[in-house]
Amino acid sequence: MKAIIPAAGVGTRFLPATKEQPKEMLPVLSKPVIQYVVEEAVAAGVSDVLVVTGRGKRAIEDHFDRSVELEDLLERAGNTDKLRQIRAIPDLANVFYVRQGRPRGLGHAILCGAPHTGDEPFYVMLGDVIVPKKDCLPKLKAVYDTYGASVIAVEPVEQQYVSRYGIIGGHEVAPGVWKLTELVEKPPANQSPSNLAIFGRYLLTPQVMRILPHVEAGRGGEIQLTDALRKLLETEDIYAVTMDCEGYDTGNVLSWLEANVVLALETDEYGPALRESLGRMLG
Ligand code: G1P
Repeated sequence: MKAIIPAAGVGTRFLPATKEQPKEMLPVLSKPVIQYVVEEAVAAGVSDVLVVTGRGKRAIEDHFDRSVELEDLLERAGNTDKLRQIRAIPDLANVFYVRQGRPRGLGHAILCGAPHTGDEPFYVMLGDVIVPKKDCLPKLKAVYDTYGASVIAVEPVEQQYVSRYGIIGGHEVAPGVWKLTELVEKPPANQSPSNLAIFGRYLLTPQVMRILPHVEAGRGGEIQLTDALRKLLETEDIYAVTMDCEGYDTGNVLSWLEANVVLALETDEYGPALRESLGRMLG
């Protein structure tokens, strides 16, 4: 199965860092966010990834390309460890690109991938969301294999935060699996069908690509994927599966900080020293 990684968004929440730099290239530890996303796709058996980019996003393409001068330099310096790391990046997957001329919303970005995915179901992986445990896509696939329908990853959020997310409504048909009756993009807290928030990973049937061209601008004046999925619900079932793993929306400064701390604490390289300095700082 193929994956579409929308990475054309502006990164307003992370300005000024994202003024001239794609938010997907922000590092978490020493690796850019989008590399985590591609590695997650690869771990789920995806070998064909389409990144939807736009103006100012060329660093993403360069990152997944060879860096011949850098490789020469590392080779001459005998830095075989780093050399191996750098050489492995372009070999991760077949990465394709399409440019969205203007940021017109997530739905429009996904539509840019229609010629690439054709009549096949495909994953959507938001390019600034990291799921370190990498178990999200296999869960989506398992639900897809059971029901033969689109599946969305969701996670419960506090009621006061529902207006930041796409929210689903439905009933639980198996533990953690919901059959949808409703989807709404960023509802006010008092009109939300549940507190289950769309989380940045989807497995979608190709029918959504036929709906997207007809979706009008919705929330924020943008063409919303959530609105296309609500339309899809009129003709096809859609399921959601709750994630019990952490995910980080790294386009948000606090969440990006958390991702750095949590992942650093798990490493031998930084974990012990960071634990010690955090202990000192927090008294
Ligand atoms: C997008 C989706 C939203 C989802 C969110 C997850 O919103 O439109 O449904 O809940 O990603 O991060 P954005 O954060 O791009 O505004």
